[in-house]
This record gives sequence, C-alpha cells and structure tokens, in this order.
Amino acid sequence: MYSPEELSMLNTQTQDWLSNSQQRVSNIEQVKELSKVLRYHEWRYYVLSDPIVSDFEYDQLFKKLKQAEERDSNLILSDSPTQRISHALTKDFPEVEHIVPMLSLDNSYDIDDLNDWEKRIKGMINEGEITFSAEPKFDGSGISVIYENDQFLRGATRGDGLIGEEITTNLRILKSLPLSAAFSKYGIQKVEIRGEVVIRKDVFKEMNTKRIEEGLPPLANPRNSASGSLRMQDPQEVAKRGLEAFVYHVSYAIDIEGNSVLGSKIETHSDCINMLYSLGFKTPYEELNIYDNTDKLLTYCNEWEQKRDSYPYEIDGMVLKVNSLSAQEEVGSTSHHPRWAMAFKFKARQASTKLLDVIFNVGRTGAVTPVAKLKPVQIGGVTVSSVSMFNEEFLLTRDIRIGDTVLVERAGDVIPYIAKSVHDVRDGSEKSIIYPSECPICNSKLIKPEEEAVWRCENIYGCEAQVVERMIHFVSKNSMNIKGFGDKYIRRFHELGMLNTIVDIYRLDYDAILNLEGFKEKSVDNLRSAIEVSKKQSLHRLIFGLGMRYVGEQTAKTLANSVTDILELKDFTEEQLMELEDIGPKVANGIKVFFENEENILVIESLRSLGVNTTREAASATFSNVLAGKTFVITGTLPSYSRDEAKAKIEDFGGKVTGSVSAKTDYLLAGEAAGSKLAKAQSIGTVSIINEQEFENLIK
Ligand code: IVH
Repeated sequence: MYSPEELSMLNTQTQDWLSNSQQRVSNIEQVKELSKVLRYHEWRYYVLSDPIVSDFEYDQLFKKLKQAEERDSNLILSDSPTQRISHALTKDFPEVEHIVPMLSLDNSYDIDDLNDWEKRIKGMINEGEITFSAEPKFDGSGISVIYENDQFLRGATRGDGLIGEEITTNLRILKSLPLSAAFSKYGIQKVEIRGEVVIRKDVFKEMNTKRIEEGLPPLANPRNSASGSLRMQDPQEVAKRGLEAFVYHVSYAIDIEGNSVLGSKIETHSDCINMLYSLGFKTPYEELNIYDNTDKLLTYCNEWEQKRDSYPYEIDGMVLKVNSLSAQEEVGSTSHHPRWAMAFKFKARQASTKLLDVIFNVGRTGAVTPVAKLKPVQIGGVTVSSVSMFNEEFLLTRDIRIGDTVLVERAGDVIPYIAKSVHDVRDGSEKSIIYPSECPICNSKLIKPEEEAVWRCENIYGCEAQVVERMIHFVSKNSMNIKGFGDKYIRRFHELGMLNTIVDIYRLDYDAILNLEGFKEKSVDNLRSAIEVSKKQSLHRLIFGLGMRYVGEQTAKTLANSVTDILELKDFTEEQLMELEDIGPKVANGIKVFFENEENILVIESLRSLGVNTTREAASATFSNVLAGKTFVITGTLPSYSRDEAKAKIEDFGGKVTGSVSAKTDYLLAGEAAGSKLAKAQSIGTVSIINEQEFENLIK
C-alpha cells in the first residue's frame, strides 16, 4: 500500500501536525496532506488493525481539517475523511441493477466433492497447469461497490442478485472502504467489486452487552446485525454499529476504451486481491493461499475450521476459486453459481430441536428473563439444553410456543440462541408462553416501564434472586475481581446465612468456613487474601460492581474520573451527570435512583468502614505501579481477557499500551492466533513475548 519512504513521510507529517497544535490548515496543499495523513491512520486502524496513534490524536487531526473546511468551503474535497457521514436521513434505498449479477456459491463438504469439482474444471479447460485459491468465507452481508475515475461511485446490497438496494450513503461511512482509490494506476477506469460487510465478534458482543444492560432486545448475530445496519436510515446510527467491509472479488473492470482488463492485464484472482490490498482495501490478503491440488486445499480448509473460533470475524467456510481469470471465463457460470468457485462449508452451528418448557429467571437488576428448556442437542461439539430468550419482544416477534421445533444457532463465542421457530411443522398441540405477572422468586408484582423491553421485579433488597445475583456480579472479573470466589461459593454461603449483602463479603467468618465440608486451611487462606486484595481495587471497579442500572464498565470509568470519593456522586443532579461523556438521560436517571436509595448509601459507608477503597486517589496510590514505564502491545485472542480488559489491567498497574510493535516495545502480550505483530516482535529480538499467565505473574 505505502512504500517505506511514504510511510516514513506520513509518520513525520503525523508528528508535525500533532506537535504543532496551534498550526492552522489554510491552503489546499495542507488540506491534501492532512487528508492523506488521516486516510493513512484510518487504513492502519480499520484495514491493518494496527494503529499507531491514539483515538484522541486521530480526533485532533480530524478536527483541524474539519475546522479548515468550515472556515472555507472551497477546501472541501469530495474524498475528504470528513465527508464520510451525511447528516441527512436516507428516505429510501432505490433499486439498482448490478453490472454483473451477484451469484451464489455452490457448496461442498468433503474431499469427494472437491475431487469432483477439480475433475469437472479440468475436463472443461485447455490450460495445462491449474491452480486454486482458498480464502475464508465471511458470514456477513454481501455488497457490491463501483468506483469510477478512482472515486467511490455507488454501493448496493445483493438484493435478488440482479437488482439490489442502493446504500451508497451508508457504505461511505465504513472507513475500511476508501472514498478514492487509484485504480487508474492499473489501467482501470471503472470497476465493480464484491465484498461482505461484517462486524468483529468482540465488537458485536460488546454492543449486545450494552443493549441488554439498557433493556433493549439483543441483536441476533453479527450477520443479521450487519445486514440490518446497512439499511438503517440514520447514517449517524450506522456509524455506531462497528461495520467493516472485506472485498474479495472483482466482477468487472474496464479501461478507458471500455475493454475489460480481467483475464488480460490482470490475470488472476490473487492479482485482484493484491491490487485491492495495495489500493488500501480490507481484503483476505494474508489469508489467501494458492494450491495446485485438492488434498492441499482440504488441509488448508481443515486448518481454518480449527482456528475459526479465534478468528476475529465470523466465517462459515472457505471459498475456493480457480485462480486464472481466463480459465474462470472458460468454465463460466450457471444461472445460480459460477462453476469456477466453490464454498467449502464448515460443520453447521445450527441445529433444530424441541422447545420443552420455558422458565423465568430473575437477574441482578430484577429483570425477568424467559429461558428456553430444550431437548438437548449437539451444536459444533457442545450440548445445548437451555438458552436465554432475552425478553418478551423476542418471544413475540418470533412467535415461539412451547412444543415448537426451534432452530438453535451457536456462532463462535456468541451465546447460543433461538434463531427461529419452525411454524410449518406445528401440530396444534403447541402452547403459548404466558409471561408471569408476579416475580417467580418473591411474588412481587412485575413492572414494565413504557419505554423498556423488560419486565422487572422492583423488590431490590427483598428478592433473593437479586440479592444473590448482585453479589455474583460484585465479585466477578470485571467488577472487584475476587479470584476463586465464584457463584458456587456465593450461593452456598448465602444458603448458610453467611452472606446476605455485598457488605457481608468483607465480614465473612473464616473459622466457620474452615469447618465446612470441602474447605481446607489453604483454600480459606486463598479466599481471604483474594478478598483482602479486592479492597484496594480502583474506584471504577467498585462503581461497576455496585450494579447501578445501565452503568456499564465505560460509564463506571467516566464516573470514577469525575469524583475523588464515590459519595460525591450523591450530589450530582441528572443534568450534571448528563454533562459527562456518553451519559444520556436514561443512564443519569439510573445513577440518581441508585444514590437516592438510603440502603445503597449505607452499603457504601459500610464497605468503606471495612476497608474497601471508595476514593480515586487511594486506588492509584495503593495499586502497585510495577508496570510503570513499560510499553505493551497486545495481539491475538487471550484466554480470559478481551483486548480492552487487558489494556485496562496494564494501565491499572502503571503500564502503557500502544498499537504497534517497535524497538520501544517492552512486552508483547500474545494470545491465540497472534500474527504479524508476533513475527515483528521476534525479529526485533528485544521484546519480551509473554502469554496471559506470564502477564498475570508480572502483576501478582
Ligand atoms: S466470491 C460469485 N468470496 O458467500 C462469486 N464470496 O454463499 C463471488 N462470500 O454470495 C463471490 N466470503 O456474498 C466470495 N471470500 C469470499 C466470500 C464470499 C463470503 C459470500 C458472498 C456469496 C455468498 C455465497
């Protein structure tokens, strides 16, 4: 994409613009330079997943350009990074015809299917040596994008394959799709490319956690969520959905005379991918391999099936393609699929089973959730017998009844869920699910505020289920992180009357615990010291652990940074809370309601008197600074932390996290499927490469 000289130039320009915060952008040359710098950082972030500036620094540069454009509209270029989001609502998505129809793919499942395919191809073409490419099959929403004279012209959904919906405005938002790309360098005047809009699995998971916290129905899976998001009318909302576009096929490319360059100037599929990569697109460039026989293809497919879970995006197979474009043309297509391509499908992660019963669970905030009891079924090696159905709306929109045959999906680390109930096979014996009007645990009347999707039990301190779930949340990894103190102990101690509120955690009678079956001196000591350590946790963990309605980890951090002592939050009005970053009326109200409840204040005061840190300063002073001055890079998938969690942990202990490996990096924290960053760290030689366990030893 960039030559070493260009890279070093862009890095210098970045530093210049950043260090010179007063410098205004006032002429078109500067606008072009700054746009190029911004595009470079978008590429590093969205295409390479390897940023070298912080979000804050990117925003500073972006603002500088935006201000210049506001001062003088002559400085606005159509492909400026500021021109991605349109502020107007999209009224409708007009129908557009694809230049080349978007066909489906034929499926294969084993070596016999692959051998048949190879034989068919070889029987049809004259070329001597035939090679095949293999790359992941992205499980997202198909798109088609046209560039003309190097500019992004139009984007569309797949539709029926011939005619799709025009979604240019929404696709322009995706920073993985360049607004301009130098196809002319390849002699191309107009090009139609195909790809898939996807959402990273971790981004999707986080989005859903947030939605559930806010009482909204969760989005079904990354695929549905991507296709739904692409059709949203408000571009500002689309921008929040974390969409990315992979491009993997050039369906049409003509030169200035109108002649196709495919099969002539550009000879192979891998050349297409290399071209797209060099023009700054996100493509399966690193994932693509070329083989000359089907045994090798199969081995590669199997390798990918093994590592499918640790890949950041949902994939449901591999796509195998004849690499030579002239050979592709020779074998042609049926009306349904090209003969030159084949999907190799991974084992299904869907299975149908019977819905036997529905029970209702009460969570820590009193939300009453329907849980489906299923006839046990194997999906991708895991037995599923119980899945959450989230809320009433989920049941109603899918018209799910007891006795129904249901399709259960388990995608990667997304929790299993009912994708649909199959209405065609009903025999009339199915029963509607009746939502309870009283709490199944404490019998209080359930309440459903108008704007919410969930029914709640409001008996906060009297409902056993809430009491227990609140304690479980308090000790959990992202809250006070009391190691070894899981839900089993909490339930057991609660049943024995030793634990009734989170305050009791710090008043446990260890002698009594030692007398319980299954406890020894050592295990009690471990528990005691884990609880002691938690007293020094940072304030944001305490705030998150207290479980105020709608307060997730991010909001907890914002709150912790706004006070020196937690009880100062008591005096914030809802308006003052809303002045804080990312806090809207709903969250502000959740916080206010929490602090208005006298019992909550008593809990906080008791925690404090038992030695639990309730202040910001105290936390940083008592937290060990063992990682001070150390620079970390995180790569791959860690067994028990998300990237953000690992980053927070490093920062808690005084360390710094950057996006790319350099001679200045002290540690590379590497998880499963670590790629180029690992190789780079190894080549530098002075970077300590550590796994999660070794990292935990550092901060012990
Ligand atoms: S090639 C006509 N490559 O899978 C051939 N398709 O189930 C052009 N898909 O319609 C498609 N990953 O939306 C190709 N690496 C990949 C793909 C891929 C996902 C989608 C595509 C296609 C669908 C068929």
